Amino acid sequence: MITAIASRVEVMKWMESFVQEKMTEFLKSVEDSWQPADLLPDARMENFFEEIKNLQERARDLSYDLLAVLVGDTITEEALPTYESWLMSIKDVPSNEDSPWMKWNRAWTAEENRHGDLLNKYLYLTGRINMREMEASTQYLIADGFDLQTDNDPYRAFVYTSFQETATNLSHRRVAQIAKKQGDGMLAKLCGYVASDEARHAKAYKAFVGKIFEADPNEMMLAFEDMMRKKIVMPAHYMRELGVDMGKTFGHFTDAAQRINVYTALDYTDILRDLVKEWKLETVSGLNDAGERARDYLVALPDRLKRVAERMRAPQLEYKFRWID
Ligand SMILES: [Fe+2]
Ligand SMILES: [Fe+2]
Repeated sequence: MITAIASRVEVMKWMESFVQEKMTEFLKSVEDSWQPADLLPDARMENFFEEIKNLQERARDLSYDLLAVLVGDTITEEALPTYESWLMSIKDVPSNEDSPWMKWNRAWTAEENRHGDLLNKYLYLTGRINMREMEASTQYLIADGFDLQTDNDPYRAFVYTSFQETATNLSHRRVAQIAKKQGDGMLAKLCGYVASDEARHAKAYKAFVGKIFEADPNEMMLAFEDMMRKKIVMPAHYMRELGVDMGKTFGHFTDAAQRINVYTALDYTDILRDLVKEWKLETVSGLNDAGERARDYLVALPDRLKRVAERMRAPQLEYKFRWID
């Protein structure tokens, strides 16, 4: 452990060997990674068209909401350039090329890049998607960027990524379960593979924050509180469609996700509860008055949010996305 009051720059530097260690634990090498091609029909094979026919037959019965959620998830994954440039812009993190932090960012991006590739190809092959509309939404999202309200602060940023990787793990896992129920075992498998990557990423980011808590508990607590007061927004909150006002598409996307129980307000609460437990908030020591108040707020928050979430009803309004014919 380092001395009580360390600056963020010092903490990030101190964490380098820890990040290196977590990288080998929670990221996979290229040699050990699955690739989209492992999971999709191979166009070089004689039975390719037969396989496409089967794929399309399985995808025919996928529900409208499931398909809409899957398109939204895919667009979110494909806006990866935004996330990588955001990670690289976080202050106080060593930025020399061979710092474990920079290696982590590149290797994380490299793993994530497979997700959009896989889901995009699958959706294209189903024949149920208006690909041009979907691609335009992706271009919009990358061009529009996002505002996660992390102020380029590493402590806030890693609260965000801990939360978000857990949320994406959960939602891809749920999509897999629903796809299986609706008879598309192949889609279930694809989403399961993506979900398991997200689970490893979530573990890593949670470990980063846990480590920061060791070195700088008060500042880490305040950063966590600040992020939860502002609320964690989804990375695709600016998602939109051609000819549709910004804000509308994203709202309908989250409505669909709530309706089919892929990601709900209760899930938000559960993830928060999980983080409070993971970082053992109740036993963190070395806090000043503001830190103590932040802890009290955070420990009580899951129950408070749960009461609100339980009163919320899944939105029933149907919406016709331009992505799906
Ligand atoms: Fe991903
Ligand atoms: Fe992820």
